[in-house]
Amino acid sequence: PTTAAIIPAAGSGSRMGLDHPKQYHLLAGIPILVHTVRVFTSASCVDMIVVVVPAERVESTVNLMADHGLSGANLQVIAGGERRQDSVKAGLDSLNAGVDIVLVHDGARPLLAPDLIDRCCDAAIEYGAAIAAVPVKDTLKKGGPGGRILHTVDRKDLWQAQTPQASRLSLLLAAYDMAGEREVTDEASLLELAGTDVHLVEGSETNIKITRPDDLIIAEKIMQNHET
Ligand code: CTP
Ligand code: MG
Repeated sequence: PTTAAIIPAAGSGSRMGLDHPKQYHLLAGIPILVHTVRVFTSASCVDMIVVVVPAERVESTVNLMADHGLSGANLQVIAGGERRQDSVKAGLDSLNAGVDIVLVHDGARPLLAPDLIDRCCDAAIEYGAAIAAVPVKDTLKKGGPGGRILHTVDRKDLWQAQTPQASRLSLLLAAYDMAGEREVTDEASLLELAGTDVHLVEGSETNIKITRPDDLIIAEKIMQNHET
């Protein structure tokens, strides 16, 4: 099946507090987004990649990718939207009708292995939709008024969602149509709302999303560890 990867990277990184969007920040000397795109070029299931960036950065990102040897007809850079889901939608709208499977992966999540991408693809082919996730390992508390614990949430069967999130393109398009203007933080939420079964694929503890400044320190360490 023809598989496209959409990489939303059009956010501003407000929680990171840098003077530029975090996906352009250097990790081991290379922009985070370059790391992410590189991993997708080495996954065997991926036929084409659409990188979605802030409108004013489309041209500079094409150049940035080319500087790192990433260019060609299979790599597109397009402008995103206001919310993550709008950026993903822009990516979906840019795909041609021949695409069967679509993968969505955060640009700010550079530390995944190509193998996880392939396993998400395989699961989407088998089940229709699948996401990477890891079992929750901490004890979870439901907080209430005044910062008081209301109760402990049983973590059995609880998973922390990651990306890649993979599905048949037709299923995700239908889910977008059904959701209208509803706000979500991942594609699986849309598929769940549309009644589509989404399969869990075991991800990796090191597949972190770089969100806050501490994550950069952790990501540098993980990167060093991968290299040795
Ligand atoms: N993203 C996007 N378009 C948006 C918002 C986010 O493509 N309008 C992307 C981000 O660039 C990131 C991914 O979605 O790669 C996950 O979002 P998040 O970690 O929340 O990044 P930001 O929105 O940039 O960060 P923040 O929420 O702290 O502002
Ligand atoms: Mg955000």
